[in-house]
Amino acid sequence: MCFSDSLPCGDRPICDFRQECLNIKEKGVIPIMKRFLAVLVAMVMMLAMTAPALAEVKVGVAMPTQSLQRWNQDGAYMKEKLEAAGYEVVLTYSDNDVSRQVADIENMLTADCAVLVIASIDGGSLGTVLATAKEMGVPVIAYDRLIVDTDAVDYYATFDNYQVGVIQGSFIEEKLGLKDGAGPFNFEIVAGSPDDTNAFYFYNGAMDLLKPYIESGQLVVPSGQIDLDVVGTLAWSSATAQERFDNIIAANYAQGEKLDAVLCSNDSTAFGVITALINAGYSEDQWPVITGQDCDMPNMQYIVSGKQSMSVFKDTRTLAEKVVGMVDALKKGAEPEINDTTTYDNNVKVVPSFLCTPVFGSADNYVELLIDSGYYIEENGEFKTP
Ligand code: BGC
Repeated sequence: MCFSDSLPCGDRPICDFRQECLNIKEKGVIPIMKRFLAVLVAMVMMLAMTAPALAEVKVGVAMPTQSLQRWNQDGAYMKEKLEAAGYEVVLTYSDNDVSRQVADIENMLTADCAVLVIASIDGGSLGTVLATAKEMGVPVIAYDRLIVDTDAVDYYATFDNYQVGVIQGSFIEEKLGLKDGAGPFNFEIVAGSPDDTNAFYFYNGAMDLLKPYIESGQLVVPSGQIDLDVVGTLAWSSATAQERFDNIIAANYAQGEKLDAVLCSNDSTAFGVITALINAGYSEDQWPVITGQDCDMPNMQYIVSGKQSMSVFKDTRTLAEKVVGMVDALKKGAEPEINDTTTYDNNVKVVPSFLCTPVFGSADNYVELLIDSGYYIEENGEFKTP
């Protein structure tokens, strides 16, 4: 089934009707049949004019998990905005289980979803199911995370992932005064999930800035764990990050060595690191600089209380709006808006992308950024969604 087949007749590209007419001519249909068809087409067009414009168009939205805050918000915004635009939404969360996500996408195809929006768990594991989507003419938009090793992904909507890392790296550079030659400082790295391409962009954005300081000796990594294959955190799990950091503290900081900064790629990993520091009895004056990403609600409490130094805000409302715009464009047979045609090579093709802008967030600007903008409400020191 192609995307336009699932649209109410009045919304189908006009060429469909022309093609039908050509087929009829070729088959030499007798005049009475032609009149019948003309009446039928007129009736269908009249019906289409009175039918709700998009009532039949289903969009499948596959989110990875409900265990991390952001995907709940992404899923909720996508559903809300797509429904407001008149689409029917099939929304799934796959509990970070790859085979479940594949099954969820298969079900979306069976349920006649006309376009798929997918935030993958493992960007390299969807090739087979997406090949089916492609055969069925169902366009695929990769949401936030790139889908790799397949040509069956049409567009990618995300934030500038490299820039997220740059914001984190620049923050550490500035806080420690590295540009002015300060140091040496003890520094550790806790990166994201190796099956998520974003983890590489975040890491590279930060480490392209910070590695020269490791080379110059201004930053010292006592654990010796620097490369992404050793600093990654499977499934971005707070518990996994905490366990690794418990070991790092015990092995390298148990004799009073000062830990000056931790590059955490996101808030769930920062949460694990902060728990390890609390359990190890770190006091306020020993507390290191800690980065994050997402402005998750528990982390915002840590930012306000000084346990986390910053986060990167990626406004999921903006991303959802962009994706709804892409779905609308596809429905009209138009080209969705993109602003990057070079960065996201998925090993088969460079996926045309729209990159939203990530923003620095801290105790100094969170009120304007998150509260005044209606993203969260803050009540008795706690953050909630409105
Ligand atoms: C997202 C981050 C998020 C992480 C864990 C990444 O793909 O871009 O915003 O923190 O997944 O959910």
